[in-house]
Amino acid sequence: MSALENSITASAPGKVIIIGEHFVVHGSYAVAAAINKRAKVTVSAGKGNESVILSNGEKTSVMGEKGKFSAAQAVARRIFEEYGTPSKGIRVEIESEIPPGSGLGSSAAISVATAASLSKFIGHTLDNDRISEIASFGEKSVHGNPSGIDSEASLLGGMILYSRETGAKQIPLNRGIQLLVVYSGHERSTSALVSKVTRKKEEFPSTFAHLSDAFSFASLQLVDALSTGDLPYLGALMNLAQASLFWVGCSTKELDNLIENVLSDESCFGAKLTGAGGGGSIIALPKPEKAGEALTRISKQYSSSFLVSIPQEGLRWE
Ligand code: MEV
Repeated sequence: MSALENSITASAPGKVIIIGEHFVVHGSYAVAAAINKRAKVTVSAGKGNESVILSNGEKTSVMGEKGKFSAAQAVARRIFEEYGTPSKGIRVEIESEIPPGSGLGSSAAISVATAASLSKFIGHTLDNDRISEIASFGEKSVHGNPSGIDSEASLLGGMILYSRETGAKQIPLNRGIQLLVVYSGHERSTSALVSKVTRKKEEFPSTFAHLSDAFSFASLQLVDALSTGDLPYLGALMNLAQASLFWVGCSTKELDNLIENVLSDESCFGAKLTGAGGGGSIIALPKPEKAGEALTRISKQYSSSFLVSIPQEGLRWE
């Protein structure tokens, strides 16, 4: 291990999936974007020999039982495995603006920022491919079979077209786009939802395969709609995605009602759940002149609502 610096801080953004969640796990294309809520990770020398992860007054040992911060724990263990366990304890402090379990990429952002800051602290400045590889251990600890889209969106920022086979391709945005994000306030487990969708795939393999192909097509169409500024079509694609996510069992009564509510005053072109579903958050595409109005109305019922302008910066040193 090289000489330790006093402290290293990196931050990475959360994300929304605009189209293709779940189907991307099974090989289809999907589109995701970084949001303006970030997780910041500061790494410094610890007091004793034990390396620890801290957040909001809670503490977990890196080498101890799988704790509350299992993503950061898995990333730290991987780094120690690859680059050697430091002889003195290290302190990994997480400050995150992204609610955990909200479908907004909290564990991916923490994994990316931990991978970058901890490796640099122990003397290894990693390139994006390595950060992504190590961050994926954080995601695996959370739900076993991640597609990789969450950590790529967090690492790169902006908007990406992603598939397991092709990896991430950044989508150039000639014009700004704004999304309305509403967190239902109900945490959910990504792993339970990913397993539920896999069971649906096993039950209806051929329908599922066709639907996956349709999501690849819809993702490419969405990229075109973005480049031409065809917001009504983009909204229509989001509504189509929501219908399919309902079919695979990822929506809930509350999310359905929330989406119906957001769409009821015609201030938005489309809306859908984002991320794993089963709770978590929804996104809507507001008509540009009505975005403020849509936010004001929904925030009266859902206090964790915000507008996000894309692009946002990916991983950065603080
Ligand atoms: C979770 O944000 C997105 C999922 O598609 C899982 C994944 O792609 O790893 C549900």
